[in-house]
Amino acid sequence: MKNVLIVKGHFIYTRTAENYEVYKNSCLVSVDGKVEGIYPSVPDRFKGVPVHDYGNRLVIPGFVDLHLHAAQFLQSGMGMTKQLLDWLEDYTFDLEREFQNREFARKAYSCFAEKLVACGTLRACIFASSSTTGTRELFEILKEKGIGAYVGKVNMDRNAPDFIIETTEDSLKGTKYLIEKYRDERLVKPIITPRFAPTSTEGLLKGLGELAVKYDLPVQSHLSESLDEIRWVQDLFKGAKNYSDVYFKNNLFKQTKTVMAHGIYLDDDEKKLVKKMDLMLAHCPDSNINLRSGIMPVRTYLDMGLKIGLGSDIAGGHKIGLNEAMVRAIQLSKILNLTNDKLKPLTVSEVFYMGTKGGGSFFGKTGSFEKGYLFDALVIEDDSMIAKRYSPEDRLEKFIYTGDDRNICARYVEGDKL
Ligand code: GUN
Ligand code: FE
Repeated sequence: MKNVLIVKGHFIYTRTAENYEVYKNSCLVSVDGKVEGIYPSVPDRFKGVPVHDYGNRLVIPGFVDLHLHAAQFLQSGMGMTKQLLDWLEDYTFDLEREFQNREFARKAYSCFAEKLVACGTLRACIFASSSTTGTRELFEILKEKGIGAYVGKVNMDRNAPDFIIETTEDSLKGTKYLIEKYRDERLVKPIITPRFAPTSTEGLLKGLGELAVKYDLPVQSHLSESLDEIRWVQDLFKGAKNYSDVYFKNNLFKQTKTVMAHGIYLDDDEKKLVKKMDLMLAHCPDSNINLRSGIMPVRTYLDMGLKIGLGSDIAGGHKIGLNEAMVRAIQLSKILNLTNDKLKPLTVSEVFYMGTKGGGSFFGKTGSFEKGYLFDALVIEDDSMIAKRYSPEDRLEKFIYTGDDRNICARYVEGDKL
């Protein structure tokens, strides 16, 4: 007997970024974790299957966070007067060092995972720390939670304090150990994670690229986030055409599936390369404004056909709920629009798409309720006066702007209720 699940409620999701698909008072049938269809009532062939009836509540795809740092969760909302490179030196490295301690890692990562899932993120691309044992704890905790994730041990072999960097050899060895241990997992899998170009030697990048290709693993890193960082990369990698080229030359730029955070200041050649390689960019608007890194020209990139998802970038970003990133993405796009009216502000459905189906494509078919998609879903409970008076579209917008974990009353990953 196949594993059949029926969920009843008001379904709202995006097939394309421009519009919502809305099914009021309907029944979604999921078979073996995949959406089979949405119907006005339970089809005859599924009669007798118990129905999870959510009445007047909304059912939406789970959030997909394409970029965040689990080892920075404790410092969310601190050090926010600094800019990127000082913030790393003065706050971040010091906290990440603690994750060499297994007990500390277990406690801190448990708090992180608890809040992440509570706030509705059911798929995420996560940086741990440079500690292999600490990163192993994060794998185990996320597996217990039952969400989907790519988890990376952070590789660094220069230009950071001694207490946090490793030798090239140790960094690669620890990475390989975690790959071997977790690559056959169903939901929580390894991802190759050079922190960013400046904290990597050419040798480390080369070794990581080789691992990515050998094991056919995805890659994540930071790209072109701040102007100081870009100048530093130009200084360190004299032979590279541009920042992207540093990764590209080392098989870390979509030779296997790749997501790069930020990409704010890409030059024309880089934009062409991102497009040609079909690389995914993670837009992290909270982080970009908190650290005064800049504003990603999202509308321009979308018009060029670049692929963009959203990231909370905890703890450059201060809030872990991805709806925060959706709101901030709209707000920053409105700021750009104030000085250039050709740059149309992002719409709510566009940012919702980025945070569900858009980013979800990095994980396969997730982030939508189209037939064949994995049934990853959140059930949203809002105020009964709001629920009675407003359309699903309005209610979703209000949840995105004002909601949090208290409004999420159920979560499903591949048809399993968490
Ligand atoms: N670049 C290198 N490391 C980091 C980090 O931890 N956060 C952000 N936002 N950018 C980075
Ligand atoms: Fe980051």
